Amino acid sequence: MTVPIAIIGTGIAGLSAAQALNAAGHSVHLFDKSRGSGGRMSSKRSDAGSLDMGAQYFTARDRRFMTAVQQWQAQGCVEQWTPSLYNFHAGQLSPSPDEQVRWVGKPGMSAITRAMLGDLPVTFSCRITEVFQGEHHWNLQDAEGQSHGPFSHVVIATPAPQATTLLAAAPKLAGVAAGVKMDPTWAVALAFNKPLETPLEGCFVQDSPLDWLARNRSKPGRDVTLDTWVLHATSSWSKQHLDMPKETVIEHLHGAFAELIGCAMPAPSFSLAHRWLYARPASAHEWGALSDSDLGIYVCGDWCLSGRVEGAWLSGQEAARRLMEHLN
Ligand code: FAD
Ligand code: NAI
Repeated sequence: MTVPIAIIGTGIAGLSAAQALNAAGHSVHLFDKSRGSGGRMSSKRSDAGSLDMGAQYFTARDRRFMTAVQQWQAQGCVEQWTPSLYNFHAGQLSPSPDEQVRWVGKPGMSAITRAMLGDLPVTFSCRITEVFQGEHHWNLQDAEGQSHGPFSHVVIATPAPQATTLLAAAPKLAGVAAGVKMDPTWAVALAFNKPLETPLEGCFVQDSPLDWLARNRSKPGRDVTLDTWVLHATSSWSKQHLDMPKETVIEHLHGAFAELIGCAMPAPSFSLAHRWLYARPASAHEWGALSDSDLGIYVCGDWCLSGRVEGAWLSGQEAARRLMEHLN
């Protein structure tokens, strides 16, 4: 019997590693504490349809990632998004078109990781609390006290603070991960029965509690029954209001939206707030991945590279490459 490789995290980094390992003939088993895949790239099901509360779109600058995006496009789970872009600066809203190609999952961001997962073996709703060494192999312990294993290697594909606690068996890697600070983001969705009278579909925001907003219906394949908007607060506002009740966060960000939009803003018929505790690394790194090949532990995630979807995918590829290099 072949002993599989454990992968903790079914965000795009973990799934990128899983796909590369699986394609090379290695068996993998994935774990995630959530009920589905995607992590920060997931879409949230709500009364206003499926909403991208985390990653809004992504860009592809690396040739290898561009190839992957083209494959997803051919599979129909990715499409280009060409919003009418604005910039809000010093109290002024102005069109801000550019040439950048931006991609989104279709019909929601989750479509990408769902397609990547395919029928790979996975255990959801399973928070791993410990990674420990058996006689020859690795085992995992979950929050319910259950053990999983044996595994030949472990790939940890979670945000840095969550990776740190799983790296007790590899103190050097734990030390590196512990040095990576990740900042929070408050995200709010607002839905309006009557479409807002504005041409705006995406906006980069300065000098406001907000740093980004997007009109859901401008993305391909979305539900257009309601006019739904996703607003993201800046890291500093989110840090300052980390424990604010959701209703109050909605009120504040709705107010900031109303201030910048420049058209009448009725009360929303639906609202939702989500707090991403580990939304983005406070600074970028160029590690690719972290590894201790002698131990058989590999770590990947957006924080090992650019803190973006592309960086997360590339980091997963790098973890898989290092693991397979050590086997040869
Ligand atoms: P994650 O997606 O965080 O995946 C980690 C997974 O590990 C999660 O599913 C989690 O449930 C699981 N996990 C954690 N701990 C455990 C445990 N102990 N046991 C089991 N499972 C565990 N990027 C862009 O390129 N463009 C954008 O527009 C953009 N906007 C963003 C907006 C917001 C609000 C946020 C939060 C992020 C945004 N990003 C954006 C960043 C992008 O979402 C991330 O870079 C990328 O999704 C990270 O992928 P990942 O696989 O490294 O981590
Ligand atoms: P990108 O190239 O579209 O944007 C990069 C940055 O350039 C933007 O944040 C914005 O400041 C600026 N910019 C780009 N186009 C602009 C325009 N037309 N007008 C005005 N400013 C413009 O995308 P890239 O490099 O892939 O970055 C991903 C995006 O994801 C960024 O916007 C980043 O802020 C966001 N992100 C948000 C996180 C969060 O927690 N809120 C976490 C990680 C990424």
